[in-house]
Amino acid sequence: MSNCHLTPIDLTDPSQSTELAHQRRLCGWDYDPATLTTWKQRQIEGSKLLFWIVTSSTSSSPSPSSSSSNTPKPTSTSTTDPKPATLCGHISLEPTPTTTPKTFSIKTLFIHPSHRRGGTGRQAMQLIEKEASVRGAQWLELTALSKRYVYDDGPQWRGIWETKFGIAPPAFSVQEWYEGMGFVVWKEEPVTEERALDGEVVFLWEAFMRKGL
Ligand SMILES: CC(C)(COP(=O)(O)OP(=O)(O)OC[C@H]1O[C@@H](n2cnc3c(N)ncnc32)[C@H](O)[C@@H]1OP(=O)(O)O)[C@@H](O)C(=O)NCCC(=O)NCCS
Repeated sequence: MSNCHLTPIDLTDPSQSTELAHQRRLCGWDYDPATLTTWKQRQIEGSKLLFWIVTSSTSSSPSPSSSSSNTPKPTSTSTTDPKPATLCGHISLEPTPTTTPKTFSIKTLFIHPSHRRGGTGRQAMQLIEKEASVRGAQWLELTALSKRYVYDDGPQWRGIWETKFGIAPPAFSVQEWYEGMGFVVWKEEPVTEERALDGEVVFLWEAFMRKGL
């Protein structure tokens, strides 16, 4: 069982920038220093809110995320926590400019592999919904890889992993995981650019999902 909370990421702290880059590299996401510099600026402007997902785990999962020795030390919310708090992932929230009703996008949810399957991801989603609500959000939106890549046979869907990328299909559908939390698909488009083993550029379809608060 996990009990997590969110705490803002301070990208002016070099050790936090290093930890964020480390987590993003683990997930295969962009961790270019230039991207993190852009995010630091957007934090100042208020167009991007970045949070650590901090857990005080009571499970026997190995501790954290980071392999780096200069990992920032989160402050535990409880003096009675049996184990020290851990930066087990990150999540971000972005206000969508000039939308009515007021809408926020959830981006880049990541839970460290050693902390998955314990309810932390779901709890982080509940917490980010609260963060959006206190800022006046009426809708939340996000994108997720289309579940067709998990469920639909055919060379362009489930078959694409082995034929194009030489890997096994995903173990589960993140789209379906979000559906379980009340998000509904309103369109699908080919968005995510990946490079196949033979160098071909492939655009993977994303499900655009939203949820009224
Ligand atoms: C998606 C992600 C955030 C889920 O985090 P999590 O802490 O494992 O999620 P929870 O523990 O709250 O939910 C677990 C449930 O999700 C499903 N699930 C998660 N991983 C699964 C897997 N490898 N195989 C099958 N089902 C899985 C199951 O329904 C599971 O419930 P169960 O453990 O009772 O069977 C995490 O896997 C992750 O960081 N993945 C990489 C980044 C990513 O895909 N982010 C989303 C981008 S849109």
